[in-house]
Amino acid sequence: EEAQKGGYPDFMSKEIAQQPEALADTLVGRLHPVEGIGLDEVRIPEEELRRVDKVAVVACGSSYHAGLVAKLAIEHWARLPVEVEVASEFRYRDPVLDERTLVVGISQSGESVDTLQAVRHGRDNGARALVVCNVVDSSLAREADGVLYTRAGPEVCVAATKTHVAQLAALELLALHLAQLRGTLAPKRAGQLFEALAALPDLVAQAVERGPAVAAVAETLLGARDVFYLGRHVGYPVAMEGALKLKELAYVRAEAYPAGELKHGPIALVEPGTVVVAVATRQPLWEKLMANLAEVRARGARVVALASDGDERTAEHADEVLWVPPTEPLFSPLVDVVPLQQLAYEVARRSGRDVDRPRNLAKTVTVE
Ligand code: AGP
Repeated sequence: EEAQKGGYPDFMSKEIAQQPEALADTLVGRLHPVEGIGLDEVRIPEEELRRVDKVAVVACGSSYHAGLVAKLAIEHWARLPVEVEVASEFRYRDPVLDERTLVVGISQSGESVDTLQAVRHGRDNGARALVVCNVVDSSLAREADGVLYTRAGPEVCVAATKTHVAQLAALELLALHLAQLRGTLAPKRAGQLFEALAALPDLVAQAVERGPAVAAVAETLLGARDVFYLGRHVGYPVAMEGALKLKELAYVRAEAYPAGELKHGPIALVEPGTVVVAVATRQPLWEKLMANLAEVRARGARVVALASDGDERTAEHADEVLWVPPTEPLFSPLVDVVPLQQLAYEVARRSGRDVDRPRNLAKTVTVE
């Protein structure tokens, strides 16, 4: 096992470090500078994809968070309505499905029984099913009409890191592919996005290298009873993923909220010393998020903000800053999630947790 860790103290740190490679491998051969996105391996014929009038995403845990990002990207670029649901609920609510619905199942393992059943339910009700998955020939890959494989390599740590980033990349490709098929993206804008997508492995590598700065901030979270993760728009699913990582690795109660929702209840929990982690890189609604941060700070919260490099205005609203390289807003989850993974890792390690095998959890959940 030590040999497999390749000199890293644990699988999690190794897998965090492998993220630029996982991302580059997932993009390679699918993103072309001139023609754009080519997803030939998706076996669903293009005429059928063109006919799709609704997308239903089903997934669990980190894969579900990737699905929430996919919703924003597909709706914005491909102008297709998207619903996202935790897979364990989907088939029990009698969802409206037909042959023009595309069910997208997301699962790193390809074996989560909830996602498998949800995809099966979609197909049984006439929908086409596409699966985004990291394991070749997994149960989900065999169940679906088409598969878009992520190429993150095997992930050993129970907490998903590199597979999550690879899922985000595959879903961004899917969103842009659908946009191309539907003719909803101006060629000039598409070209800018392809360029930004190709630059992501390098930006993720920069984010990974900043681990030591994150380790210093981790001290702020040590001993915290509750931690709030706030985000808006595309930052909200990133906040959810950050909170999940802290819960599962460090066993700290962490809740994510869309920051505008705070005043509808959760702000009652904010008191001097409450730690708030804000995904505050430049995205739509950034100004409004700043107002939300002012509200929690006025009540004594200590704010750790993720900010785009050089963005001093965000830094003014925070007690501590985690700097991240900027990218297109809808690609930002791929970069912004990295310091949140590192933050949870550092808090867990300092609290003496087994980061690779957190208590009560299995890597793959094959029971309902
Ligand atoms: C992520 O850190 C978790 N271990 C968990 O939420 C996971 O994402 C979920 O169980 C889904 O697994 P899957 O992607 O293999 O379907």
